[in-house]
Amino acid sequence: MKAAYIQKPGPADTIIYGDLPDPSPAPNQLLIEVKAVSVNPIDTYIRSGKVAMELPQPFVVGCDFAGVVLQVGCEVQAFRVGDRVWGSNQGLLGRQGTFSEKIAIDAKWAYPMPDKVSFETAAAVALVGITAHLGLFAEAQLRPGQSLFVPGGSGGVGSMVIQMAKIAGARVVTTAGNTDKATRCRALGADAVICYREESIEHGLKAFAPEGVDVWWETLREPDMDLAVASLAPRGCMILMAGREARPAFPVGPFYVKQCQLRGFVMFGASAEQQARCAEQIGHWLSQGDLKPNIDRRLPLAETAQAHQWQADNTVESSGLLAGKIVLTP
Ligand SMILES: NC(=O)c1ccc[n+]([C@@H]2O[C@H](COP(=O)([O-])OP(=O)(O)OC[C@H]3O[C@@H](n4cnc5c(N)ncnc54)[C@H](OP(=O)(O)O)[C@@H]3O)[C@@H](O)[C@H]2O)c1
Repeated sequence: MKAAYIQKPGPADTIIYGDLPDPSPAPNQLLIEVKAVSVNPIDTYIRSGKVAMELPQPFVVGCDFAGVVLQVGCEVQAFRVGDRVWGSNQGLLGRQGTFSEKIAIDAKWAYPMPDKVSFETAAAVALVGITAHLGLFAEAQLRPGQSLFVPGGSGGVGSMVIQMAKIAGARVVTTAGNTDKATRCRALGADAVICYREESIEHGLKAFAPEGVDVWWETLREPDMDLAVASLAPRGCMILMAGREARPAFPVGPFYVKQCQLRGFVMFGASAEQQARCAEQIGHWLSQGDLKPNIDRRLPLAETAQAHQWQADNTVESSGLLAGKIVLTP
């Protein structure tokens, strides 16, 4: 089968697109014909070695997938040959990745795809959708009527946070690097968009929520904790989930006097059962049309190295190149 893989961590052009043997499923696994995958920033950190993880040899890159079940391991009850499935959490913690024509994965990481949902859609929302669900509901415990700020509303995570927060009945303000992205953020449901290259985030937030925002969902890799704490409402909650190397100054006094909360999480730290519950609700929202993928561009799987370069430039170098997910098809 064709696969995008590396022999050892390195720059994007380390990725080889070539032939590997087909995987064979263990008793607890499904063999899946992959129809679509999407790139996440973590794929680029693992590929480069910036985030060191145990890697199979060779290592197929990528976490997200959508496809069709070709074969079912003898211990698996929940799926049949021909089922359409989607999921994430591969290519992590020693597991093989998804950027190949076929994958063998533990059935606990596969979710049924509703009939009306396309493979591209499911692949594009996989990791970012589960992340947004975990952060909004298990961590921030968002309630109807609350206000939420998420920077980078046209980004992978930001676009999911906006939509799910709106489904939950919150008021949402975000940022955009240009007017096209601001339009996209409004189409996703944002109540207000701060064009941060022209206007101050601080002023935009004051106008939107004079008493402060109830939830600050940080997506940036270098958070400004002074601004965040100053912009939080009393008893507000800040979510941290990006910026492994960040060591920002922290305003202790203003934070505890306002009785705020700080919650950090990583999606792959949640159990398979917890993620499956998120996936069930995401599948329902997708089938109802309440949640939409935010796809910026599509590429053939053979162009994985290019996709990694673009994703890293966007997320790490803040190039502004992307306005959503890169989806690839074998
Ligand atoms: N903890 C977890 O479980 C978890 C899960 C998923 C992702 N993450 C992390 O979350 C971060 C975001 O991921 P993503 O998939 O959403 O990335 P992304 O698609 O690249 O989106 C990030 C967005 O942030 C905006 N941005 C970049 N630099 C900015 C700046 N200096 N000021 C304001 N906005 C800026 C950009 O939009 P504009 O062009 O509009 O500026 C960009 O589109 C990454 O660091 C990723 O590793 C963590």
